[in-house]
Amino acid sequence: MLIKREKIVAGNWKMNLDRQKSIALAESIATQHADASSVTIVLCPPNVYIEAVGAAIGIAQGKNASRLALGAQNMHELANGAFTGEVAAAMLVDCGCRYVILGHSERRTLYAETNATVNAKTKAALAAGLTPIVCVGELLEEREAARTDEVVARQITGSLSGLPAADFTRIIVAYEPVWAIGTGRVATPQQAQEVHALIRGLLVTMSSADIAGQVRIVYGGSVKPDNANDLASQPDIDGALVGGASLKAEDFLGIAKAFQ
Ligand code: 13P
Repeated sequence: MLIKREKIVAGNWKMNLDRQKSIALAESIATQHADASSVTIVLCPPNVYIEAVGAAIGIAQGKNASRLALGAQNMHELANGAFTGEVAAAMLVDCGCRYVILGHSERRTLYAETNATVNAKTKAALAAGLTPIVCVGELLEEREAARTDEVVARQITGSLSGLPAADFTRIIVAYEPVWAIGTGRVATPQQAQEVHALIRGLLVTMSSADIAGQVRIVYGGSVKPDNANDLASQPDIDGALVGGASLKAEDFLGIAKAFQ
């Protein structure tokens, strides 16, 4: 049975823009992205601008339930406590977030996040009602050593272990090969499709064929308007997680359009 999965395109703004530019970008996207679009757009600004961006896209008017939503780039796995500088899932929900990016390669490499950390965060996000966007992806040396499958399999099984089967429908997986992030070197549609199919196969063993068939698996790493169409044509690529190109409304909307 062919399952039609709703496409999703998320913008990971990382540590970029200021308040004014964040609001301007969000307003520009909000005015141009039709509610009737079949693609859900998620904006993930720095935490300090989440509420300003939420106001700009009309979260207060109930628009967050629409095709334009707010997400965060990270969160802590515990609900509260003495964790200076951290933010909990419920706080993100409180600020209007529906999504949270977890286990991004920058978090894994620069802040030593392990699969166990990502697993704990995924469970906490789900418990708070957030949709986690769980990132996996191999380093260049791992791909060159033909270890991509092994690395991605370890990240998927580790990051998603112990989830009840039904919860798999509430997560999004992002395949972001580290060598493609911010480098302008996008994976070929075939390379991406291969890994997406591998991930879906792993999800089948961790949940069921029916459930795994419903999980959105998005691609990230140098996605631009001019390569998005080819990526979108692949059967297991259900959207994109966009860094650099999400900072320009025109480019970001161009990518979203490719998944329409
Ligand atoms: P780029 O689109 O800039 O390569 O970044 C991808 C990314 O890391 C999104 O999370």
